[in-house]
Amino acid sequence: MFISFEGSDGSGKTTQIQLLADHLRAAGRSVLTTREPGGTRIGDGIRQLLLDLAHTEMHARAETLLFNAARAQIVAEVIRPALAARITVLCDRFADSTLAYQGYGHQQEIAELERLIAYATGGLRPHLAIYLDIPPAEGIRRNRGRADGDWNRLDAQELSFYQRVETGYRQLIAQEPERWAVVDATRPRDEVHHDVVQALQRKLPALSQSL
Ligand code: TMP
Repeated sequence: MFISFEGSDGSGKTTQIQLLADHLRAAGRSVLTTREPGGTRIGDGIRQLLLDLAHTEMHARAETLLFNAARAQIVAEVIRPALAARITVLCDRFADSTLAYQGYGHQQEIAELERLIAYATGGLRPHLAIYLDIPPAEGIRRNRGRADGDWNRLDAQELSFYQRVETGYRQLIAQEPERWAVVDATRPRDEVHHDVVQALQRKLPALSQSL
């Protein structure tokens, strides 16, 4: 089973993935957590290229291709083999991030992005995408207050950009509601976790039979 977590920066994806992984493991499942961009040696190298504050000249198309190069690698090297071994994969972002950020945020053509994503993934899509829903301004506030000081090139966007990203996610969800679970991520983390588990039980009965 392949589940992605999506949402604004600062929506708590990393925490919620960890909580869900612990929950599923306690129920006896084999779980792999990973993230995009990254998750492989090549993907981590690409992540460094993408995040580096010095790379102010990076062209939007180069950025899109780099995200998708990292994606092609993680699909082939990590996600497909794990799924073949019946491991549940929880991924911090996947192709919907490209549609939301590059498509709606940076206003690149959606149809072109869809073709590129199909090439990178070979058509692999998550069974479920969990959208952690917080207002963009709240996400920015949380992100800037992060103790790890992990500020990077991709964080350096205006509020209007994050508002377009949020609009984009809402359009993606409206187009394919069965593929998404929307969880209010403004509440305390344990309540959000509870809702994530409930969403799984509703959306993926096959997975939740063993929860
Ligand atoms: P993270 O902070 O969730 O690790 O994500 C890194 C940044 O990369 C975040 O600002 C979203 C962005 N991103 C894209 O713009 N396009 C993509 O395809 C992916 C996977 C991430």
